[in-house]
Amino acid sequence: MGGGAPQPVVLIVDDEASVRMFLRKAVLRCGFVPLISANAAEAEATIRSTHFDCAIVDKNLPDGSGLELLDLIRAQRPDSDVIIITGYVNSQSAIDALRLGAVDYLCKPFDFDTLEHRLKAVVERRKSLSQQARLESMLAHADRLSSLGTMAAGVVHEINNPLACVTANLNFVDEELRELMVELPAESAARLEGCLEALRDAREGTLRAVTIVKDLRIFSRRDETEVELVSLEASLDAAVKVATPSIKGKAVVERRYGDSASIRCSRTRLEQVFLNLIVNAGQAVGSTGRSDGAITLTTSTSEAGEAVVEISDNGTGMTPEVKARLFEPFFTTKGEGEGTGLGLSVCHGIITGAGGRIDVRSEPGQGTTFRLTFPAAPAESTPARMVGKVA
Ligand SMILES: Nc1ncnc2c1ncn2[C@@H]1O[C@H](COP(=O)(O)OP(=O)(O)OP(=O)(O)O)[C@@H](O)[C@H]1O
Ligand SMILES: [Mg+2]
Repeated sequence: MGGGAPQPVVLIVDDEASVRMFLRKAVLRCGFVPLISANAAEAEATIRSTHFDCAIVDKNLPDGSGLELLDLIRAQRPDSDVIIITGYVNSQSAIDALRLGAVDYLCKPFDFDTLEHRLKAVVERRKSLSQQARLESMLAHADRLSSLGTMAAGVVHEINNPLACVTANLNFVDEELRELMVELPAESAARLEGCLEALRDAREGTLRAVTIVKDLRIFSRRDETEVELVSLEASLDAAVKVATPSIKGKAVVERRYGDSASIRCSRTRLEQVFLNLIVNAGQAVGSTGRSDGAITLTTSTSEAGEAVVEISDNGTGMTPEVKARLFEPFFTTKGEGEGTGLGLSVCHGIITGAGGRIDVRSEPGQGTTFRLTFPAAPAESTPARMVGKVA
């Protein structure tokens, strides 16, 4: 078999040496790896300790029943299939085996060809089932994100106008009050101070709502911006500049820039992705309180010619539960007012929109690395156009 996927492992359980030899040969002929047990006790130990894809189990064993082993396999190894061997052509025992969850049965004596054919069919079926399950879960995830995107677009539309109206009116009242204060006697002016303070809080609140709506608009992808040839390093530098106030005192930024290819993407969106990731990294380092906090920005070109960026931090790291929900809109572990949980779902949308992907490596207490991979811009567009622009 070619490299890549591991070879399927087949557990053989039979008390007759000649049958074991025969089955072993057949398994090898299929290109699979045989695991052999001569009795129920041995088989039980293997089932509990070792992974296998399929088991061929004799129904009658001197120290136990093959059907009991079938039960054990179904409980311990739900991803493994079982084929039961029955001694006689007796349809009732075959039906019993199938009812108990075996995928197939074989009657002794059997020939190589039948065995090989049925064994391969069982292994293939399992492989396509797990591929299908993976595909279904990816589709369900994409579907959830896309319906949330549609909903977000509607919400943005409904909220944007009233929000603009509130902001404009708050600004107007603020200006009027300030002018009025100058004209009023000192005593009355002092009372207005409280009103101005309340207004400032109200304006801060609306500003926060405006930011959320802006994020949602990008998330819903209704807000198209110009796609151009951008350099990862220049965009990272721009994002660091904007992020500096929020990471100052928490982490130092180390740049390890390699020779990465340019990519085609919206410059502002790419900077937003980097900004979100750097701010998250700063927050993760900040909450450890460590004095050697660091955010490392690495760029490179992969063997396949893709442009790669890694943003690493030595912050809190993440539990598997957090990692699993990371890109869901509104998923946050931060306190109220600290995070909306939109940052990474926005990043995910922008990156996949540019044909790239985002992966994460993280362990609690071990920090986090986000790895972004983008297709490089076509070779002819990189140097030629850039030179063309300069000339
Ligand atoms: N570098 C990181 N280290 C540890 N945890 C992280 C890191 N980046 C993201 N997370 C976790 O993922 C969650 C979701 O991140 P996301 O950026 O989407 O939202 P947020 O930062 O909570 O809020 P927002 O970005 O909208 O202000 C965070 O609340 C945090 O638990
Ligand atoms: Mg964030």
